[in-house]
Amino acid sequence: MRAVGFHAPGGPEVVEVLDVPEPDRDDLLVVDVAGAAVNPVDLATRSGQIPTEGTTLLGWDLAGTVLRAPHGSGFAAGDRVAAMTAPLGTGIASMAERVALDPAFAVAVPASLDLLVAAALPLAGVTAVQTLRLAGLGAEDRVLLVGAQGSVGSHVAGRLLARQGPTDLVVRPGDADVWAVRLEQSEALGTVRTSPDTIGPGTYDVVIDTAGVPTLVDAVREGGRFVTITPFSAPTPEDHPSVDVRLTSVEISREDLQDVVARAASGAGVLPDVESLPLEAAGRAHARLEAGGVRGKLVLVP
Ligand SMILES: NC(=O)c1ccc[n+]([C@@H]2O[C@H](COP(=O)([O-])OP(=O)(O)OC[C@H]3O[C@@H](n4cnc5c(N)ncnc54)[C@H](OP(=O)(O)O)[C@@H]3O)[C@@H](O)[C@H]2O)c1
Repeated sequence: MRAVGFHAPGGPEVVEVLDVPEPDRDDLLVVDVAGAAVNPVDLATRSGQIPTEGTTLLGWDLAGTVLRAPHGSGFAAGDRVAAMTAPLGTGIASMAERVALDPAFAVAVPASLDLLVAAALPLAGVTAVQTLRLAGLGAEDRVLLVGAQGSVGSHVAGRLLARQGPTDLVVRPGDADVWAVRLEQSEALGTVRTSPDTIGPGTYDVVIDTAGVPTLVDAVREGGRFVTITPFSAPTPEDHPSVDVRLTSVEISREDLQDVVARAASGAGVLPDVESLPLEAAGRAHARLEAGGVRGKLVLVP
C-alpha cells in the first residue's frame, strides 16, 4: 500500500509516496484513511530539524473508517474515527492508505462532521486544548494571542473568544478584517493587532504564542506567563527571570481529542477550511506550508 515518507532528510523534494506493507496486527484498530492533514512537524521531521533514522513515514493526523477493530475496543468495522498518531513517539504515521493504531488513540467522528475536516483537527486542536490548560487563565487575566489565524492559533482563538475576558489577537495584516469581525461578535473584549513591535512592555498578564514571536515575552507583566508552542523559537527562561515561560509539549489524549471533535461537530469555534490533495502532492504541500501564507489545512487524501 502507499504511504508518504522520505529516505533521507532534505527539502520538500525528498518526500515520496512509498510502497509499505499492509498493517496486519489483530490487536490494533485498522483504519481506512480518508484524509491526513499536513502539519509543520511533518516539515521539521522531513528537513532533519527533528532527527530521525533511515526511511521515515510521515503524518500525525488522520480521519477515516474502521476496517477491523479488536474485540472489546468499543469500535466496529464501518465506524468513522479520527486520531492523532504522534509518530515520533509511537512509530505510527498517518499518511497512508491504511493505518493500524491503538484504539485508545481514536475517537468517534459524528455523522455531522465531514471526515476531511475531522482529519484537520487532531494535532492542532489537542495542542490548543493543552496550551490553554498550561496557560491556566484566570477570569480577569488580560491575554494576548499571537497567530490567531494559524492552525493551532485558530483553535485557541475560538476558545478564548467564548470567554468573557480581555483578549487581544495578533494576526497578519491580511487576516485582520475577518478576525476583527469574529472578535466583535464574541464574548471577549479586545482588539486585533497587526504590529507586534508596537506593543508596550508589561501590557499583558498572559501571552500565548502560537506563531513563534519570542520577542513578545517583553509584553508580559512581571510575574505573568508567556506560553509558547514553538520550541525552536521560544524565549530562554534564564533571560526573562520575571516571566514564567511555559512550553507546550503535545501529548496523545483521547479526552482532549473528543473535546475538539465534539466542539467542531457542534459548530462552535472556528472550523478550518480544508484543501484536499492526493498523497502524491505531499512534497508540494510541504513547499507551500514552508513558504507561509497557507490558511486552513492541506489534507492528503490516499
Ligand atoms: N509544542 C507543541 O506541542 C506543538 C504542537 C503543534 C504545533 N507546534 C508548532 O507550533 C507552530 C504552529 O503550528 P501550526 O500548525 O499552528 O502552524 P500554522 O498553521 O502554520 O500557523 C502558524 C501561523 O503563525 C503565523 N505567523 C508567523 N509569524 C507571525 C507574526 N509575526 N505575526 C502574526 N502571525 C504570524 C503564520 O502566518 P504566515 O503563514 O503568514 O507566515 C501562520 O498563520 C509550528 O512551529 C508547529 O511545529 C508545536
